[in-house]
Amino acid sequence: MAKNKEKIIVANWKMQLGIKESINLAKQMHKKFLNFKAATVGICPNFASLSEVNKVLNGSKIKLGAQDVFWENKGAYTGEISPAVLKEAGCELVIIGHSERRKYARENYEMIHKKTKACIDAGLTPIVCIGESWEERKTDKRDYVLVDQLQLALGGLNISGSQQVIIAYEPIWAIGTGSAIERQEAEYAHKIIALSLNQILPMEVVKKNLRIIYGGSISAKNAKDFVGLANHDGLLVGGASLDAEEFYKVASIISK
Ligand code: PGA
Repeated sequence: MAKNKEKIIVANWKMQLGIKESINLAKQMHKKFLNFKAATVGICPNFASLSEVNKVLNGSKIKLGAQDVFWENKGAYTGEISPAVLKEAGCELVIIGHSERRKYARENYEMIHKKTKACIDAGLTPIVCIGESWEERKTDKRDYVLVDQLQLALGGLNISGSQQVIIAYEPIWAIGTGSAIERQEAEYAHKIIALSLNQILPMEVVKKNLRIIYGGSISAKNAKDFVGLANHDGLLVGGASLDAEEFYKVASIISK
């Protein structure tokens, strides 16, 4: 990863807020980040809140993101939402293959691949989630799992121009637990990811178009552990993004 890339900090609000709550929090974020220029900031509300939050973010540099997408642009796909509609709603970012979707909606990397491709085709920035389970970590399978997930998600994709693709390394066992992984372990995993990206995609594409961020129990208390980490371009923040002040602190710390 290029050293001088601006950090990106993305809020994943999951299914924690209603529409009114999302609008209120978006208003607070807008205010809080009005003069924040140190990094790129994104927020990902639920689908139903996207259009309203987009209105709130008018005039703000905060990017709007969705938490999922379908891989077709139109058709008989009940319950799904297309990249085109997300764009219409004002989205620039899309979280894909979050471990909660892999767990509860049985999403697999074939689907994740198709969703990533659909985002690229539509000019949206996919945030592709990868990460090992506790069991996989315990049995020394982490490296293999990460390489495999990346290969399945990105293999054969054509990434060019100014298209950005963000890889979110989210060790499943660290999500929502209150304790993020240790700095050295994060650094190691990010190195594996960077090396394997260079196997899958041309090096200049990795350098220019790819970013690696970390997610899993980030808070204002532990964000400093991720400052200056190699191959690390930012954070995906769940719980701590539900409070504008806390999220602002995280963003300020990491973009130093
Ligand atoms: P967390 O969630 O910060 O609440 O652990 C992160 C995520 O799942 O993206």
